[in-house]
Amino acid sequence: MIEAQEVNFAYRRGEPVLHDISCSIADGESLALLGHNGSGKTTLTRLFMALDHPRSGQVLIDGNNIEKCEPADLADKIGYVFQNPDLQILEDTVFDEVAYGLKNKELSEENIKHQVELALEAMGLSEFADIYPRSLSFGQKRRLGVAAALALNPRNLILDEITNGQDEQEKEMMMNYLKKLNTEKHITIILITHDMEIARKYTKRSLVLFDGDLVFDGATEKLFDGIKDLAPWGLTQPPLAKLGAVFGINALETAAFCNGLELKGAEAK
Ligand SMILES: Nc1ncnc2c1ncn2[C@@H]1O[C@H](COP(=O)(O)OP(=O)(O)OP(=O)(O)O)[C@@H](O)[C@H]1O
Ligand SMILES: [Mg+2]
Repeated sequence: MIEAQEVNFAYRRGEPVLHDISCSIADGESLALLGHNGSGKTTLTRLFMALDHPRSGQVLIDGNNIEKCEPADLADKIGYVFQNPDLQILEDTVFDEVAYGLKNKELSEENIKHQVELALEAMGLSEFADIYPRSLSFGQKRRLGVAAALALNPRNLILDEITNGQDEQEKEMMMNYLKKLNTEKHITIILITHDMEIARKYTKRSLVLFDGDLVFDGATEKLFDGIKDLAPWGLTQPPLAKLGAVFGINALETAAFCNGLELKGAEAK
């Protein structure tokens, strides 16, 4: 459980960037954190991970105030994938990069190898295990960040813009894997994204930040009903949601939308 209680935050010498944010994310939720550039998404999740601390208010993880915690104290509970993959790379090979967090745990070499291989496989990176991580493409580096987080088996995953730089197939592979983790293992997924289709398809609840205010906290389905005007928050309805609203078809994928259209066509005959 991740809770923010009346959280305010400003970077050093800067203007306040989060204003009185209160929200509670239960174990096993799949949540999208949305908002325009600079709305405060990354900042809010940095507070969840104790990378920064609120100026006032508090953040609780599993009921404990984390004001005295450092990120390392939460590493077992929360996996965090940074928006900028280069910030996270510390090791000389892809394998070691994923093994990095595991080496601080008392695990056998064999066990570490197994966990790393599973995580690399899940992110489609097995063939790159021995190469220098910085030579990966941007999209591959995003998946490497996810693999490193997965290897630690955290109960919560915070994923900052991980679908950037991925092609459609890679995006789907990644998201389906995360969906499986969420539905089968009840891992909490917090997905920061500018991709409204991804948010609509893969999350049940959404939080929307606008200029550091929490302006929406509710069902993703309700946010993306195809009708609501999201422009004032700097967001747009996903095209399929818009089309769905026009045709009365609630589809998350193009194929399902086409099927719905065909059915409607057949009914009309
Ligand atoms: N290290 C920093 N020092 C000072 N100000 C910062 C810092 N990081 C972010 N900010 C400012 O805080 C505000 C919130 O930024 P944040 O990165 O949390 O937004 P975001 O919603 O993640 O945006 P994006 O979608 O572009 O990633 C912005 O005004 C930004 O300029
Ligand atoms: Mg950000």
